[in-house]
Amino acid sequence: MVIMNEETLDFSNGEFKQLLDQSSKLILKQFENIDNQKGYHDFPQTEVEQWFDEDLPENGTDASELLDEVEKKVLNTATGNLGPHMYAYVMSGGNQMSIIAEKLATTINQNQTKWHLAPAMNEIEKRVIKWTAQMMGFPEESGGVLVSGGSAANLTGLTVARNLFFEKEEIRKTGLFGQKPFVVYASDEVHSCMDKSVELLGLGSNNLRKIRTNDAFQIDLKSLVSQIEKDISEGLRPFCIVGNAGTVNTGAIDDLEALADLAKKYGMWYHVDGAYGALAALLDDLRPEYKGMERADSIALDFHKWLYQPFEGGCTLVRSWDHLRKTYYKKAAYLDTELANDGGRLEYNEHYFQLSRNAKAFKVWLSIKAFGMKRLRDMIQKDIDLTIYLNEQVESAEDFELVADSKLAVSCFRYVGKMTDKSEIVEFNHRLMPELEKDGRVFIMGTKLKGDYAIRACLINHRKSKKTIDYLLDVIRDVAQKVEVKMVKQEY
Ligand SMILES: Cc1ncc(COP(=O)(O)O)c(C=O)c1O
Repeated sequence: MVIMNEETLDFSNGEFKQLLDQSSKLILKQFENIDNQKGYHDFPQTEVEQWFDEDLPENGTDASELLDEVEKKVLNTATGNLGPHMYAYVMSGGNQMSIIAEKLATTINQNQTKWHLAPAMNEIEKRVIKWTAQMMGFPEESGGVLVSGGSAANLTGLTVARNLFFEKEEIRKTGLFGQKPFVVYASDEVHSCMDKSVELLGLGSNNLRKIRTNDAFQIDLKSLVSQIEKDISEGLRPFCIVGNAGTVNTGAIDDLEALADLAKKYGMWYHVDGAYGALAALLDDLRPEYKGMERADSIALDFHKWLYQPFEGGCTLVRSWDHLRKTYYKKAAYLDTELANDGGRLEYNEHYFQLSRNAKAFKVWLSIKAFGMKRLRDMIQKDIDLTIYLNEQVESAEDFELVADSKLAVSCFRYVGKMTDKSEIVEFNHRLMPELEKDGRVFIMGTKLKGDYAIRACLINHRKSKKTIDYLLDVIRDVAQKVEVKMVKQEY
């Protein structure tokens, strides 16, 4: 039984230690049998809702008992994002150093908005930005900010783009009124957060041109150029090209050099969405695929993907701190620190939208230091090698077909069994998804490629191995065969 001190919300140190020990045991338990962590626990939504169905508590509950409840209802039922059987979306399994970092950062509860509110944490964020600029081949004076994830990082990049591109027109004061429509170009494989971003920025999704892709799901350059020319001839203003450094569907990397040239030729801002794949440019073998990325005006990155960070942590990188300041600076008497400022302090509130911010860079900094970039690169390489292994297994199996491979860690395939008709195969794979979720041994989802459904496996998780890949195909085969039996029975 843990009783709280009535004067504050604190426990005594002894009691707090007891709770910390209890929570540490819960953390360790997560890793005890990690290789066998289920992908998904199929509880009905109403049952989960019911676990938490209670009136607003007027009085507190014993904290130790609460942790028992958390273990039962939250930890033991959690979707298996730590373990090796998660293949859906883009889910990296986090890392243990960042668990420690998050705990420590929350303890000191710094507000990463003004330098003097969090001196060390601010310098750590600046250091992480410097390291990221180095990783991306960006200039030394590049600026950047840690944000919640890839969506926020893309929105931030486009916000900077809009405000700088229309600086002369004083768009921050006048808004978009009176401007002739301006156009953003990206491939039809661009992430949906780009649609949301252009909508939020008042550009309107009608002005996001989704250019067709080639067979490798890269933006078709000829179509892009003719669309730009058409827009110019119709009196519109080409404003920004978005290049994909790894699409979410297949990991396709656009011709980033050609896009940089086109952005330059037409005087456009060049933004790269590297949320999924930019960090794979750290691998020598893949670096050439990203040629031209270093010429971007802004890049969106996601550390909760290929830097194995726990949620949340994305990053927007721009070529100068001044670009962020010109976008976000707002004077407010209550935020002025001119008297205290010795000149070298970077005030994040002047370089980003958020005022109060947690210390997202701390976990990134601590894990990069603990593991070193070599080890992190090795893990990225392992994910890619395992994807190649998966593709080989799919291709050599008679009952699977490979639909799209990629140079990054994503593979799209279908179970074919003994079916020969394409539409039947596509329909069957669609039907398979809810059955796989119910089964729960692995967690995998699908997507549509050029209009047709396929199973999509994303392998960004340093805890996977060849054994877990074999297991994935065995489970899909097993569930598929059960569905086939069920379908035959229904026919009779
Ligand atoms: C290419 C790409 N861009 C943007 C995003 C959005 O990132 P987040 O989920 O961190 O907001 C994703 C997510 O998978 C992505 O793959």
